[in-house]
Amino acid sequence: MEKHSSESYFVIGEGLLTESAGGRNASVAAAGADAAPPPFRFSRLGPKGINRQIGEPNRKKAGNAMASGGGPVSQIPAGFTYLGQFIDHDLTFDRTSVMLGANISPAAMLQGRSPSLDLDSLYGAGPQDPESAKFYEADGLHLKVGKTVAAGGIPAKNGFDLPRGAGNTVAKKRKAIIPDPRNDENLVVAQTHLALMRFHNRVVDTQLGGVPPSQKFAAARELVTKHYQWMIRTDYLTRICQATVVSNVFNQGRKAFEVGATPTDVPTMPIEFSIAAFRLGHAMIRRAYNWNKEFDDGAGTLDWLFIFSAGGGDLFGEQRLASNWIADFRRLYDFNEANKPNLAVPAAKFNRAMRIDTTLVNPLKNLPTGSFGGPNVPFNDPRANLAFRNLARAKMVKLATGQQMATFLKGKGVNLTKLTKKQIRDGNNGAQLDNLTQTQLAAFLKDTPLWFYILREAELNGGKLKGVGARIVAETMHRAMEGSQHSIVRDPTWKPTLGPNNSTFRMVDLLLFAFEGKKSLLAPLG
Ligand code: HEM
Repeated sequence: MEKHSSESYFVIGEGLLTESAGGRNASVAAAGADAAPPPFRFSRLGPKGINRQIGEPNRKKAGNAMASGGGPVSQIPAGFTYLGQFIDHDLTFDRTSVMLGANISPAAMLQGRSPSLDLDSLYGAGPQDPESAKFYEADGLHLKVGKTVAAGGIPAKNGFDLPRGAGNTVAKKRKAIIPDPRNDENLVVAQTHLALMRFHNRVVDTQLGGVPPSQKFAAARELVTKHYQWMIRTDYLTRICQATVVSNVFNQGRKAFEVGATPTDVPTMPIEFSIAAFRLGHAMIRRAYNWNKEFDDGAGTLDWLFIFSAGGGDLFGEQRLASNWIADFRRLYDFNEANKPNLAVPAAKFNRAMRIDTTLVNPLKNLPTGSFGGPNVPFNDPRANLAFRNLARAKMVKLATGQQMATFLKGKGVNLTKLTKKQIRDGNNGAQLDNLTQTQLAAFLKDTPLWFYILREAELNGGKLKGVGARIVAETMHRAMEGSQHSIVRDPTWKPTLGPNNSTFRMVDLLLFAFEGKKSLLAPLG
């Protein structure tokens, strides 16, 4: 199983930061132009947090305080949690991992190992690339989808699982044939990936009239990618970030990150985004879901959602997804927003994400080994605690603290108010820091880990990122869209054509299009 995150960070200007090196890696730094190309291009937005990292005992206690149970439920439909995970994987996907060595020019290598919102995680290197051809039907246009296996009285259904079945062992056959195996880490992100595949296939089926055969794939991909970016900018980002920050960044431009970059230059990814800000999604995860008609009323626990994937689990011993676990998208996204009450479920069946705050649901204190790449560790070992892992990564790269980033961004002209020590200590019905000693607490409030700081900001803002967090997320997303091959930022006159009007394209519209507006496809179990 591909690991969910980097174990090391190649930071431009600093070299490879790893747990053991913790700084400039001599071999990388000295090797110069002939060096092996870097794995993925991270950059550092703010200052280094030298002498500002809290100690390990403190991280353990803070990690425990954070992962001791989720806070209140938010208004955000729960599907957006995993859309966020899908977006994260798209941003961090290393396309060169699915390209055939000889085909990769240095320029393609650079591009492939840079953050973009091009849906590489869906398309790989495209149907013409020998290594990626396996993701496509023989026509070189449609993405392959998979078939579920009959279960619980529900027959096998074509088009409701990721494609699987390659290889000669059961484990290999189970593995999803998709460019980014991280999208099979849990069932919700897997079904989100499937929805995007269906979206592409439906664009191929309905939107390519008159396009010469040689240009069909490129035309479909451009249309899909631009709609996807529009949806991220107008629907996803405004749900997780204060909307005024998003519109400020997209209308007025960036103030802190790669300001003035040539738009088509290859972007980098700030470690402050990857290691702190965008891990916001961990706070949104629920302990259990009203998953579908069969696994209702909380029966879709996070544990089962791991098991019914081939990354976090083993599909419960099967080689394909069991039909009775197919998603009911009506429970994850609110189709009332698209004026489709006939596709809405009663409020009691609907799943809302947990509030974006400093608390994580308890199962994330003991992650399945597959999700973090092992090793097998005893129950309650900090290495399986997602909160502790996030705090430890920050220490590894000497990430700037929340306070440092607030000062840094203010210096760039960003209008924000620093959190006070009292706000950081007390929050608003979030993680309680009373298990820290006085000394530990004093250190924590003075030099607050960036991830915690950003989550506290959101917690004090009704569950939406603001200040430091909103700025980092909006600017990084803006730059990633700007530097993508297809870009709504570089093409400001572009408007969506697959939604209800020429300024609206939300995730519900994407799903309605992908699943033909049919209840039988959005919720095949009824
Ligand atoms: C059940 C769902 C999820 C699980 C089990 C999970 C687990 C993990 C793990 C184990 C890591 C690596 C930690 C480390 O060692 O550094 C990680 C990294 C990360 N996660 Fe998640 N995560 C989930 C959902 C999400 C969501 C919803 C988001 C964002 C909206 C997100 C964003 C990130 C980011 C930005 C990173 C670091 C960058 C990377 O992907 O390499 N994750 N996650």
